[in-house]
Amino acid sequence: MNIDTLNKQFGIANVVTFTAGNGDLPCITLTSKLANATIYLQGGHITHWQPTGEKPVLFMNSKSFFEDGKPIRGGVPICFPWFGAHPTNEKLPAHGIVRAKQWEVESITQDPVGNVIVTLLTKSDQASYDLWPFKFELRHIITVGSTLNLNLQTQNTDDKEFKITQALHTYLAIKNIHNVQIAGLEGCPYFDKVATANTHAPQSPLHLTGEFDSVFCDTQATCRVIDPDMGRQISVAKTGSDSTIVWNPWISKSAKMQDMADHEWPQMLCIETANAGHNIITLKPGDQHEMTSMISVTKLG
Ligand code: BG6
Repeated sequence: MNIDTLNKQFGIANVVTFTAGNGDLPCITLTSKLANATIYLQGGHITHWQPTGEKPVLFMNSKSFFEDGKPIRGGVPICFPWFGAHPTNEKLPAHGIVRAKQWEVESITQDPVGNVIVTLLTKSDQASYDLWPFKFELRHIITVGSTLNLNLQTQNTDDKEFKITQALHTYLAIKNIHNVQIAGLEGCPYFDKVATANTHAPQSPLHLTGEFDSVFCDTQATCRVIDPDMGRQISVAKTGSDSTIVWNPWISKSAKMQDMADHEWPQMLCIETANAGHNIITLKPGDQHEMTSMISVTKLG
């Protein structure tokens, strides 16, 4: 569907406009009294959310690709139907098959409070079937307001059972990783992907001092990112998610990434609402799973 048709069908005067975004990729520009946001149809991907009166909450890398078929670096990429490397075939794309695909718009509405609800959809097709032989529908329902609600709904439309892992791979904007603490994962053992080892549970809020890439399983906890330099705390609450991934590439990994500016890694922190590791979701034909991430900001007193 071209931009004019999308605007005719789904645009909301003075609030929701479709434009050709970076790299001419179609995107939704959203401006309401509660927040501003940008959502790309490629990957069903929110790249920007700024509640009124706040600084942007999502980090976007200035060197991100905006190209047909390449994942966007920043915002909230969607990992599905596997998180990270494919468990048995390393030739398959990392983080699954939907983050570089064009999604459809199913509906856009505004509620009486002013929240804008954008429903994006991607379905299995021949290309996805060649990589992952199951029929599915995946909806990303993004509610943009003074909080950001991301609801990922997976439906098994096949006549056989399938298993998935998944993540809302959320890049949060912070001032300086050296001064940030992450509360909420105390008491939760984790798998350290850098050391490739299981690690004891942290006893106090995390403070990163080097490359960190860890999968915390069996946790439904809200994470709080305490950022004194920005004078704010970002909370990531969740439902339907038993895993949380914490990631910052630090200096040398970031330098190796083509789509990551060398000096920007201290300003990002991924707190990913997920089902990963041994938290695998099994869906029988017709079954649906919902995972939701609720992101909010409060000022530090
Ligand atoms: C994180 C993974 O979720 O995503 C890391 O735990 C990975 O291992 C990172 O490096 C970024 O992945 P990608 O595919 O976007 O470079």
